Amino acid sequence: MTDDLAALRAETEAAIAAAADPRALDAVRVAVLGKSGSLTALLKGLGAVAPEARKERGAALNQVKSAIEAALEAQRAVVEARALDARLAAERMDVSLPPRPFAPGTAAEGGIHPIARTMEELTTLFGAMGFKVAEGPDIESDWHNFGALNIPDHHPARQDHDTFYVPAVDGRRPVLRTHTSPVQIRTMLNEAPPIRVIVPGRTYRADHDATHSPMFHQVEGLVIDRNIHLGHLKGCLIDFLRAFFGIADLPVRFRASYFPFTEPSMEVDIGWSRKTGELGKGGDWLEILGSGMVHPKVLANCGIDPREWQGFAFGMGIERITMLKHGIPDLRPFYEADIRWLRHYGADPLSPPSLVEGV
Ligand code: DAH
Repeated sequence: MTDDLAALRAETEAAIAAAADPRALDAVRVAVLGKSGSLTALLKGLGAVAPEARKERGAALNQVKSAIEAALEAQRAVVEARALDARLAAERMDVSLPPRPFAPGTAAEGGIHPIARTMEELTTLFGAMGFKVAEGPDIESDWHNFGALNIPDHHPARQDHDTFYVPAVDGRRPVLRTHTSPVQIRTMLNEAPPIRVIVPGRTYRADHDATHSPMFHQVEGLVIDRNIHLGHLKGCLIDFLRAFFGIADLPVRFRASYFPFTEPSMEVDIGWSRKTGELGKGGDWLEILGSGMVHPKVLANCGIDPREWQGFAFGMGIERITMLKHGIPDLRPFYEADIRWLRHYGADPLSPPSLVEGV
């Protein structure tokens, strides 16, 4: 190799090694291999070389070119890795910091959505009564959502205009669960009694207006044990409602009703004033939840002997009890993510529900 080539190679390799970032590296590449680069010029000059020497000169030029290209590529990997390290170091954040109370009204102030807050309160109150939280899928089988709950085939809730169906998999069409009651079935199939669970979760119905949303939330309750009777149901729900609404003498009324999965069934009303909307006084009644003693057929559907075990169940709408508790007049803002509404009705993340201070 001639001296000029060896010098060019050494010089270029030194420049490559000194290039600290992708831009500097690219400048070296252009200066040597670009259109008017130094090596490009030598390659172009090949035609002027005497034919006897041309082959050797060409081979030497190509060897230098390959060596420079390899050095460029190796250095590119180095500077890119270095740039990434620098970025990672600069953009580092410490996710382990505990939440801090921010000044009210600052952008960083966060809050708990009222639905999530009610779920936390339900968990706290029923947790203290020995209930644990159970869950089930939003896309449910027809059997879990209806059949096992003793809901007959012709029941209106099963019709297409009330319920969202999912395309059939094996003849049976799955549904978006219309209530949290199918989790009663799943729990009884998976666990031996005694059972004490609540099931807060999303539910779906083909309804949409000021007081109905196609997606909403319910909480189910289920207690299965020996010798459970209506008195347990009433005591449990009265205690819950008074603690949840924070009214120690809240009037609670049990009214005979009908649900296919309970026998007897009762609707539960609380006292309020129709005129002012105030809870606890006023002499009017407001329906708030459904309940009853678990139907023997439902127990049998889950392989539980109804002669040995009894229980009660209840179900209520989470939006509804949240609206009543906080005086929220309209259902729609629950799902609109309006920061002003969330600030107003959201809960402080640093004050979770507490049994001592009341939820
Ligand atoms: N699943 C009923 C509904 O969505 C509510 C309900 C009523 C649940 C009575 C129960 C119950 O567990 O016992 O309307």
